[in-house]
Amino acid sequence: MNNIEDILVTRLVETYFMSYTYSVVKLFTHQTTILLYLVKHILSGLTRCIQFFSAFTGVLFLGGCNLDTRMSTFVTKGPVAETQYDLFMLTVWVTLGIFIAVGGAFAFAIIKFRERPNDDRPMPSQGHGNPLVEIGLIGASILLLVIIAVPTLQGIWYTHDTPEDPESFMGAWYSGEELAEEEAENPLIIKVIGYQWWWAFEYPQLGITTANEMVIPAGKVVHLELRSFDVIHSFWLPRIAGKVDLIPGRTNSMWIQAGDNFLRWKEKQGVAGPEEESPALRADYAAYLEDEIHNYYYGQCAEYCGDSHARMHFRATVVDNEEFAEWVIDERTGHGTPDGKTWDDWYADYADNPDSLTGDLNEGLKLFMGRAKCATCHVVKGNPRALGVAGPNLTNVGSRMSIAAGWLNHRIEEDGSIDLKKQYDNFYKWIKETDVVKPGNRMWKAGGGGIGELIDENGDPALLTEDEIHKLSLYLQSLK
Ligand code: CUA
Repeated sequence: MNNIEDILVTRLVETYFMSYTYSVVKLFTHQTTILLYLVKHILSGLTRCIQFFSAFTGVLFLGGCNLDTRMSTFVTKGPVAETQYDLFMLTVWVTLGIFIAVGGAFAFAIIKFRERPNDDRPMPSQGHGNPLVEIGLIGASILLLVIIAVPTLQGIWYTHDTPEDPESFMGAWYSGEELAEEEAENPLIIKVIGYQWWWAFEYPQLGITTANEMVIPAGKVVHLELRSFDVIHSFWLPRIAGKVDLIPGRTNSMWIQAGDNFLRWKEKQGVAGPEEESPALRADYAAYLEDEIHNYYYGQCAEYCGDSHARMHFRATVVDNEEFAEWVIDERTGHGTPDGKTWDDWYADYADNPDSLTGDLNEGLKLFMGRAKCATCHVVKGNPRALGVAGPNLTNVGSRMSIAAGWLNHRIEEDGSIDLKKQYDNFYKWIKETDVVKPGNRMWKAGGGGIGELIDENGDPALLTEDEIHKLSLYLQSLK
């Protein structure tokens, strides 16, 4: 319930009760007939109040039940989430049947055998254990359990074992540069590593790493290897797949697929026979991916993992094959220097004559490499000295729709673009008060290395100034 609705309901209820409290007080000063009249009026008033309140909250409640939210498990995209959804619904129907049968028998017995006034029927016989009924019930229970268990086991196997058909292999769809033969015969692999409180996504076959916003191709199998750097986390991308934990010292795996592959989609369309490979059908399939699957998906750590667990979000962008290949090239290329010098020249100036590197972006980069110590923990592809691995990889961080593991958002939901003003504000906020945005995080306090612990030559606290934060924000925003 949002604030306005909340206040409205509270006020309405208050008004009702206050007016009737007043009426009750007046009752004592009037005659009995008036009293009775008022009691009746109060009751009908209260009834109306309750009816109104129920209807109002009912509508609000149903509003909260909207199934098409961005982290809904009811709007499924792709075979893994669909399998899990089907299993859930099967269980719901079976248990609903049991509820109706048992509850119905119970209600029937209560009504039919209740005691009535002047009831002279004898006490019913108090028998126990009718073998026929009991064996029947045991048999029915076993049958129902089997009905649930068989598809459950099938579902567990299906969602556990990454498909190994040729259409799932990277070689079948990846349109970037040539893959090594052994990689061509594997599905796309992403190593997901959970940190307190952010996510690393490594693409070992492609030699790239990103953070907090993964990019995956639509309709393609993606094999995930899940590890944790510190404590137990849980990977949950509700529309695409259920949760799997990331456990220290162990590798879990799962597979995900945003949208159906061609075969599964065709089966659902009921297409078989000679037309099955026709260009028109391929075009329909491409349209299905374009309309229903290409999108931006929201995920979240689903296992309590410390201070900022609730702020450990992540996101997945689902794109087509070409966009995926372009994204890979972008990630690999990384970034040059602000004014187009080679990195060698830039570092020569940085060492010998840093004052010659002027402008906000150069100033920001100098801070990034120097006083703010960003490069000790962050990689920026292209920059040969930004090689730290303790924090998220910042290559193309300016192209991401959020920072701070999805917590500070600058995506415009209507058109999927970036709100640049918001993005700048988010960078600024994050650098200035990292500890407020994400309590307990290591960037702020890292045992003498965090930006909340910067000191000057005399050992006095020397946090970044507003101007420094401004330049760093601009530099980070330029990484795209
Ligand atoms: Cu990571 Cu909760």
